[in-house]
Amino acid sequence: MDETFTLAHFSDPHCCCPDGIRVPELLNKRLFGYLKWWLHRHAGYSNEILAVLQQDLKSGHPDHIVITGDLTHLSRTEEFRRTAKWLQCLGPSWQVTVIPGNHDMYVKTIWENTFAHWADYMACDEKPPGTAPGTNTEITYPVLRIRDRIAIIGVCTARPVNPLLAVGTIGKVQLQRLEQILLETGRRQLLRVVLIHHPPVAATVGWRKRLTDADRFRSVVKRCGAELVLHGHAHRSCQALLEVPMGKIPVIGIPSASASDPRPERRARYHIYRFRRNATGWGIHMKVHVYSPNNRRFIPELEMDI
Ligand SMILES: [Fe+2]
Repeated sequence: MDETFTLAHFSDPHCCCPDGIRVPELLNKRLFGYLKWWLHRHAGYSNEILAVLQQDLKSGHPDHIVITGDLTHLSRTEEFRRTAKWLQCLGPSWQVTVIPGNHDMYVKTIWENTFAHWADYMACDEKPPGTAPGTNTEITYPVLRIRDRIAIIGVCTARPVNPLLAVGTIGKVQLQRLEQILLETGRRQLLRVVLIHHPPVAATVGWRKRLTDADRFRSVVKRCGAELVLHGHAHRSCQALLEVPMGKIPVIGIPSASASDPRPERRARYHIYRFRRNATGWGIHMKVHVYSPNNRRFIPELEMDI
């Protein structure tokens, strides 16, 4: 059996659809996001780059794609609808996993008008006990999806917060479930990839954008182990190592997948991870693909074993 598995990661596409926006929709936190989007020349998010990304991923045939949140910008129904169509073009729901970011829960919304459009892409392999079909409780976080010998574990940090903040919180109940999932998948010797929107490493982002219970998350991961943590939110490349008794866990963040930002560390990119079983456990190889505005395509920039 071929024990190699390829995983593509990107984040924060921020698909904004302000067309037809009505004043009542802006009488809340959305006003801040909307103004910021316009003031920063549409915040440098490009649909053209997303189209190139989609083509690249289609031709690269990764075994699975993970997206760590902020698919939308203002949590509008139209944004959810459009991103749902985009997800369908990217791949079937069993091959693409989505977790929400703070912009996807910018304000309190109605499930049927928003996340219901992506439900299949966010769902657990198995429904958590006690959940009825067709309800949002099917997506009780953390989400666990197992593909080959890879456990994809999605944590939700997104929740509506006041207009001046972009913080995230995991919460006690979700952390308890995360502990169980990490222990169980570890016992089965699966490679555990944890997806989380907010960076769990201190000082990666400022206080206004922090993960409020990052210390508790790190304690759980240190206690139970994981092989890789992937995040978004910072809109720049970040790499850190979480020291655990068994070694070090790579924690890797990525810029927005649609960013046309001139600063190299913030330019759109996606990562391809290649996981391979070896004598001591798992080998992880990472390849970074960066968008080149001159060539209008993604170019492999560097690769390394992590
Ligand atoms: Fe974002």
